[in-house]
Amino acid sequence: MSWISDYQYTCLQKLALQTLQLTGRIPNHIAFVMDGNRRFARSKQIDKIEGHSRGFSKLADVLRWCVDMGIKEVTTFAFSIENFKRSNEEVEGLFNLAREKFAKLLEETNRLDEHGIRIRVIGNILLLPTDLQRLIATAMLRTERNDKLFLNVAFAYTSRDEMTQAVEAVLKGDDQSDDEPLHPTDISERLLEECLYTRHSPPPDMVFRTSGETRLSDFMMWQLSSSVLYFTDVLWPQITIWNFLASIVAYQCNRYRMERYKRGERLHSAQLAKSSDFYSLRVQKFLHRLDANRRKLLIALASN
Ligand code: FPP
Ligand code: MG
Repeated sequence: MSWISDYQYTCLQKLALQTLQLTGRIPNHIAFVMDGNRRFARSKQIDKIEGHSRGFSKLADVLRWCVDMGIKEVTTFAFSIENFKRSNEEVEGLFNLAREKFAKLLEETNRLDEHGIRIRVIGNILLLPTDLQRLIATAMLRTERNDKLFLNVAFAYTSRDEMTQAVEAVLKGDDQSDDEPLHPTDISERLLEECLYTRHSPPPDMVFRTSGETRLSDFMMWQLSSSVLYFTDVLWPQITIWNFLASIVAYQCNRYRMERYKRGERLHSAQLAKSSDFYSLRVQKFLHRLDANRRKLLIALASN
Protein backbone atom coordinates (compact mmCIF):
# COMPACT_ATOMS: atom_id res chain seq x y z
CA MET A 1 0.00 0.00 0.00
CA SER A 2 1.57 3.30 -1.02
CA TRP A 3 0.68 5.14 2.22
CA ILE A 4 2.02 2.33 4.41
CA SER A 5 5.24 0.78 3.14
CA ASP A 6 6.22 -2.87 3.10
CA TYR A 7 9.25 -2.09 5.24
CA GLN A 8 11.44 -5.15 5.72
CA TYR A 9 12.79 -5.35 9.27
CA THR A 10 16.11 -6.92 10.18
CA CYS A 11 15.99 -9.44 13.07
CA LEU A 12 17.62 -6.90 15.38
CA GLN A 13 15.09 -4.20 14.48
CA LYS A 14 12.20 -6.57 15.09
CA LEU A 15 13.64 -7.61 18.42
CA ALA A 16 14.12 -3.97 19.47
CA LEU A 17 10.56 -3.11 18.49
CA GLN A 18 9.11 -6.07 20.40
CA THR A 19 11.27 -5.31 23.44
CA LEU A 20 9.90 -1.76 23.65
CA GLN A 21 6.38 -3.13 23.42
CA LEU A 22 7.12 -5.26 26.49
CA THR A 23 9.11 -2.76 28.55
CA GLY A 24 6.69 0.16 28.65
CA ARG A 25 3.58 1.87 27.42
CA ILE A 26 3.30 2.60 23.73
CA PRO A 27 1.93 6.04 22.86
CA ASN A 28 -1.61 6.02 21.58
CA HIS A 29 -1.18 9.03 19.36
CA ILE A 30 2.00 10.52 17.84
CA ALA A 31 2.22 13.76 15.86
CA PHE A 32 5.04 14.22 13.33
CA VAL A 33 6.49 17.47 12.02
CA MET A 34 8.28 16.28 8.89
CA ASP A 35 10.95 18.96 8.60
CA GLY A 36 14.13 19.17 6.51
CA ASN A 37 13.02 17.92 3.08
CA ARG A 38 14.60 20.85 1.19
CA ARG A 39 17.90 20.67 3.11
CA PHE A 40 17.95 16.98 2.29
CA ALA A 41 17.30 17.78 -1.38
CA ARG A 42 20.11 20.37 -1.39
CA SER A 43 22.53 17.94 0.23
CA LYS A 44 21.77 15.33 -2.44
CA GLN A 45 21.61 17.88 -5.27
CA ILE A 46 18.12 16.87 -6.23
CA ASP A 47 15.07 19.03 -6.88
CA LYS A 48 13.19 20.19 -3.78
CA ILE A 49 9.98 18.51 -4.94
CA GLU A 50 11.93 15.26 -5.14
CA GLY A 51 12.99 16.01 -1.54
CA HIS A 52 9.30 16.26 -0.56
CA SER A 53 8.55 13.09 -2.49
CA ARG A 54 11.28 11.26 -0.53
CA GLY A 55 9.66 12.78 2.55
CA PHE A 56 6.39 11.10 1.60
CA SER A 57 8.17 7.74 1.15
CA LYS A 58 9.63 8.16 4.62
CA LEU A 59 6.15 8.87 5.96
CA ALA A 60 5.02 5.53 4.50
CA ASP A 61 7.84 3.76 6.41
CA VAL A 62 6.99 5.64 9.59
CA LEU A 63 3.33 4.65 9.28
CA ARG A 64 4.40 1.02 8.91
CA TRP A 65 6.54 1.29 12.08
CA CYS A 66 3.63 2.93 13.93
CA VAL A 67 1.16 0.23 12.86
CA ASP A 68 3.56 -2.55 13.87
CA MET A 69 4.28 -0.84 17.18
CA GLY A 70 0.54 -0.71 17.98
CA ILE A 71 0.13 3.08 17.76
CA LYS A 72 -3.52 3.85 17.06
CA GLU A 73 -3.40 7.41 15.83
CA VAL A 74 -0.88 9.42 13.82
CA THR A 75 -1.10 13.09 12.89
CA THR A 76 1.34 14.47 10.36
CA PHE A 77 2.03 18.07 9.34
CA ALA A 78 2.07 18.01 5.54
CA PHE A 79 1.28 21.60 4.54
CA SER A 80 1.11 24.68 6.73
CA ILE A 81 -0.95 27.73 5.74
CA GLU A 82 2.43 29.50 6.06
CA ASN A 83 3.70 27.30 3.19
CA PHE A 84 1.48 29.28 0.78
CA LYS A 85 4.23 31.94 1.04
CA ARG A 86 6.71 29.63 -0.74
CA SER A 87 7.32 29.93 -4.50
CA ASN A 88 4.40 29.02 -6.81
CA GLU A 89 6.54 26.26 -8.22
CA GLU A 90 7.04 24.62 -4.81
CA VAL A 91 3.42 25.08 -3.69
CA GLU A 92 2.16 23.61 -6.98
CA GLY A 93 4.72 20.79 -6.67
CA LEU A 94 3.42 19.95 -3.17
CA PHE A 95 -0.19 20.06 -4.40
CA ASN A 96 0.70 17.74 -7.29
CA LEU A 97 2.32 15.34 -4.86
CA ALA A 98 -0.80 15.44 -2.68
CA ARG A 99 -3.04 14.95 -5.76
CA GLU A 100 -1.00 11.90 -6.76
CA LYS A 101 -0.99 10.41 -3.26
CA PHE A 102 -4.68 10.97 -2.50
CA ALA A 103 -5.64 9.56 -5.92
CA LYS A 104 -3.50 6.49 -5.17
CA LEU A 105 -5.11 6.20 -1.75
CA LEU A 106 -8.55 6.14 -3.37
CA GLU A 107 -7.42 3.26 -5.59
CA GLU A 108 -6.40 1.34 -2.47
CA THR A 109 -9.45 1.84 -0.29
CA ASN A 110 -10.13 -1.89 -0.02
CA ARG A 111 -6.76 -2.33 1.60
CA LEU A 112 -7.43 0.63 3.88
CA ASP A 113 -10.67 -1.09 4.93
CA GLU A 114 -8.80 -4.34 5.54
CA HIS A 115 -6.52 -2.51 7.98
CA GLY A 116 -9.38 -0.36 9.36
CA ILE A 117 -7.57 2.88 8.45
CA ARG A 118 -9.50 6.13 8.60
CA ILE A 119 -8.03 9.21 6.90
CA ARG A 120 -8.89 12.63 8.22
CA VAL A 121 -7.50 15.83 6.79
CA ILE A 122 -7.35 18.55 9.40
CA GLY A 123 -7.05 22.07 8.11
CA ASN A 124 -8.80 24.77 6.17
CA ILE A 125 -9.35 22.72 3.03
CA LEU A 126 -11.37 25.49 1.40
CA LEU A 127 -8.02 27.26 0.85
CA LEU A 128 -6.95 24.45 -1.52
CA PRO A 129 -7.62 24.00 -5.26
CA THR A 130 -11.06 22.46 -5.85
CA ASP A 131 -9.78 19.22 -7.41
CA LEU A 132 -7.65 18.61 -4.30
CA GLN A 133 -10.64 19.45 -2.07
CA ARG A 134 -12.62 16.82 -3.96
CA LEU A 135 -9.95 14.13 -3.53
CA ILE A 136 -9.53 14.90 0.16
CA ALA A 137 -13.28 14.97 0.87
CA THR A 138 -13.76 11.69 -1.02
CA ALA A 139 -10.94 10.00 0.91
CA MET A 140 -12.38 11.18 4.24
CA LEU A 141 -15.90 10.04 3.43
CA ARG A 142 -14.77 6.76 1.91
CA THR A 143 -12.85 5.74 5.06
CA GLU A 144 -15.17 7.24 7.67
CA ARG A 145 -16.39 3.89 8.97
CA ASN A 146 -12.88 2.58 9.72
CA ASP A 147 -11.75 2.79 13.31
CA LYS A 148 -8.57 0.78 13.90
CA LEU A 149 -5.97 3.34 12.86
CA PHE A 150 -6.56 7.05 12.49
CA LEU A 151 -4.30 8.95 10.14
CA ASN A 152 -4.76 12.70 10.38
CA VAL A 153 -3.03 14.73 7.68
CA ALA A 154 -2.68 18.40 8.59
CA PHE A 155 -2.98 20.17 5.23
CA ALA A 156 -3.58 23.94 4.89
CA TYR A 157 -3.33 23.92 8.66
CA THR A 158 -2.10 26.21 11.41
CA SER A 159 -3.20 26.14 15.03
CA ARG A 160 -4.10 29.80 15.01
CA ASP A 161 -6.36 29.26 12.03
CA GLU A 162 -7.90 26.20 13.68
CA MET A 163 -8.69 28.22 16.82
CA THR A 164 -10.07 31.09 14.71
CA GLN A 165 -12.33 28.65 12.85
CA ALA A 166 -13.48 27.22 16.19
CA VAL A 167 -14.45 30.68 17.48
CA GLU A 168 -16.23 31.39 14.19
CA ALA A 169 -18.19 28.13 14.51
CA VAL A 170 -19.30 29.08 18.03
CA LEU A 171 -20.31 32.61 17.03
CA LYS A 172 -22.10 31.56 13.89
CA GLY A 173 -23.92 28.67 15.55
CA ASP A 174 -26.13 27.38 12.79
CA ASP A 175 -28.22 30.07 11.14
CA GLN A 176 -30.34 27.44 9.38
CA SER A 177 -31.36 25.67 12.56
CA ASP A 178 -34.50 26.23 14.63
CA ASP A 179 -32.65 25.06 17.74
CA GLU A 180 -31.93 27.52 20.50
CA PRO A 181 -28.66 29.42 19.84
CA LEU A 182 -25.72 29.12 22.23
CA HIS A 183 -25.65 31.36 25.30
CA PRO A 184 -22.54 33.25 26.47
CA THR A 185 -22.50 30.96 29.55
CA ASP A 186 -22.15 27.93 27.24
CA ILE A 187 -18.70 29.08 26.20
CA SER A 188 -15.89 27.19 27.90
CA GLU A 189 -12.45 25.82 27.06
CA ARG A 190 -14.17 22.50 26.63
CA LEU A 191 -16.62 23.88 24.05
CA LEU A 192 -13.81 25.51 22.04
CA GLU A 193 -11.82 22.28 22.19
CA GLU A 194 -14.82 20.43 20.80
CA CYS A 195 -14.92 22.83 17.84
CA LEU A 196 -11.31 22.16 16.79
CA TYR A 197 -10.64 19.94 13.76
CA THR A 198 -9.32 17.35 16.20
CA ARG A 199 -12.66 17.15 18.04
CA HIS A 200 -12.72 13.36 17.80
CA SER A 201 -9.05 12.67 18.63
CA PRO A 202 -7.26 12.38 21.95
CA PRO A 203 -4.34 14.84 22.28
CA PRO A 204 -1.03 13.44 20.97
CA ASP A 205 1.08 11.69 23.62
CA MET A 206 4.21 12.79 21.80
CA VAL A 207 5.26 15.14 19.01
CA PHE A 208 8.30 14.17 16.94
CA ARG A 209 10.08 16.87 14.95
CA THR A 210 13.09 16.40 12.70
CA SER A 211 15.89 18.61 11.35
CA GLY A 212 17.09 20.24 14.57
CA GLU A 213 14.31 22.83 14.78
CA THR A 214 12.94 23.01 18.31
CA ARG A 215 9.72 24.94 17.63
CA LEU A 216 6.09 23.96 17.24
CA SER A 217 5.58 26.22 14.18
CA ASP A 218 1.88 26.78 14.86
CA PHE A 219 1.18 23.05 14.90
CA MET A 220 -1.41 21.62 17.34
CA MET A 221 -0.56 24.29 19.91
CA TRP A 222 -3.79 23.67 21.81
CA GLN A 223 -3.45 19.88 21.73
CA LEU A 224 0.26 19.54 22.63
CA SER A 225 0.22 21.28 26.00
CA SER A 226 1.07 18.12 27.93
CA SER A 227 2.70 15.96 25.26
CA VAL A 228 6.27 14.69 25.29
CA LEU A 229 8.29 16.81 22.83
CA TYR A 230 10.92 14.87 20.90
CA PHE A 231 13.38 16.65 18.64
CA THR A 232 16.10 15.11 16.52
CA ASP A 233 18.71 16.75 14.27
CA VAL A 234 18.17 14.18 11.52
CA LEU A 235 16.42 15.48 8.37
CA TRP A 236 12.99 13.90 7.83
CA PRO A 237 13.84 11.85 4.67
CA GLN A 238 16.86 10.42 6.52
CA ILE A 239 15.26 9.18 9.72
CA THR A 240 15.67 5.51 10.43
CA ILE A 241 13.76 3.05 12.55
CA TRP A 242 16.43 3.57 15.23
CA ASN A 243 15.52 7.27 15.46
CA PHE A 244 11.89 6.27 15.76
CA LEU A 245 12.61 3.67 18.46
CA ALA A 246 14.74 6.22 20.35
CA SER A 247 11.70 8.51 20.45
CA ILE A 248 9.60 5.70 21.94
CA VAL A 249 12.25 5.20 24.64
CA ALA A 250 12.15 8.96 25.36
CA TYR A 251 8.36 8.75 25.62
CA GLN A 252 8.55 5.81 28.00
CA CYS A 253 11.05 7.69 30.21
CA ASN A 254 9.00 10.91 30.32
CA ARG A 255 5.42 9.79 30.21
CA TYR A 256 4.76 9.62 33.98
CA ARG A 257 5.67 13.28 34.42
CA MET A 258 3.60 14.35 31.42
CA GLU A 259 0.65 12.23 32.46
CA ARG A 260 0.51 14.00 35.80
CA TYR A 261 0.02 17.26 33.88
CA LYS A 262 -2.47 15.61 31.58
CA ARG A 263 -4.56 14.35 34.48
CA GLY A 264 -4.50 17.84 36.00
CA GLU A 265 -5.60 19.33 32.68
CA ARG A 266 -8.41 16.82 32.25
CA LEU A 267 -9.68 17.57 35.75
CA HIS A 268 -9.55 21.32 35.13
CA SER A 269 -11.34 20.94 31.79
CA ALA A 270 -14.04 18.74 33.36
CA GLN A 271 -14.55 21.30 36.17
CA LEU A 272 -14.85 24.12 33.64
CA ALA A 273 -17.29 22.07 31.57
CA LYS A 274 -19.39 21.38 34.66
CA SER A 275 -19.39 25.00 35.80
CA SER A 276 -20.46 26.15 32.31
CA ASP A 277 -23.44 24.75 30.45
CA PHE A 278 -21.34 22.32 28.40
CA TYR A 279 -23.58 19.35 29.16
CA SER A 280 -26.81 21.20 28.39
CA LEU A 281 -29.02 19.89 25.61
CA ARG A 282 -28.46 23.20 23.78
CA VAL A 283 -24.66 22.69 23.61
CA GLN A 284 -24.90 19.00 22.77
CA LYS A 285 -27.33 19.79 19.93
CA PHE A 286 -24.93 22.47 18.69
CA LEU A 287 -22.05 19.96 18.60
CA HIS A 288 -24.21 17.44 16.83
CA ARG A 289 -25.05 20.05 14.16
CA LEU A 290 -21.36 20.98 13.90
CA ASP A 291 -20.51 17.37 12.97
CA ALA A 292 -23.45 17.14 10.59
CA ASN A 293 -22.51 20.41 8.87
CA ARG A 294 -18.86 19.40 8.52
CA ARG A 295 -19.97 16.14 6.92
CA LYS A 296 -22.39 17.99 4.62
CA LEU A 297 -19.51 20.19 3.49
CA LEU A 298 -17.42 17.11 2.66
CA ILE A 299 -20.30 15.64 0.64
CA ALA A 300 -20.63 18.91 -1.29
CA LEU A 301 -16.86 19.09 -1.96
CA ALA A 302 -16.71 15.43 -3.00
CA SER A 303 -19.41 15.97 -5.59
CA ASN A 304 -17.91 19.19 -7.02
C1 FPP B 1 9.05 20.51 5.60
O1 FPP B 1 10.38 20.50 5.07
C2 FPP B 1 8.14 19.72 4.79
C3 FPP B 1 7.07 20.20 4.10
C4 FPP B 1 6.72 21.63 4.08
C5 FPP B 1 6.20 19.33 3.30
C6 FPP B 1 6.05 17.95 3.85
C7 FPP B 1 5.23 17.17 2.90
C8 FPP B 1 5.45 15.87 2.59
C9 FPP B 1 6.49 15.02 3.20
C10 FPP B 1 4.55 15.23 1.59
C11 FPP B 1 3.28 14.89 2.28
C12 FPP B 1 2.19 14.66 1.33
C13 FPP B 1 1.04 14.07 1.70
C14 FPP B 1 0.00 13.89 0.70
C15 FPP B 1 0.79 13.58 3.08
P1 FPP B 1 10.93 21.89 4.52
O2 FPP B 1 10.36 22.11 3.14
O3 FPP B 1 10.60 22.97 5.51
O4 FPP B 1 12.46 21.64 4.42
P2 FPP B 1 13.62 22.58 5.02
O5 FPP B 1 13.29 22.74 6.49
O6 FPP B 1 14.87 21.80 4.79
O7 FPP B 1 13.55 23.87 4.28
MG1 MG C 1 11.51 23.57 7.29
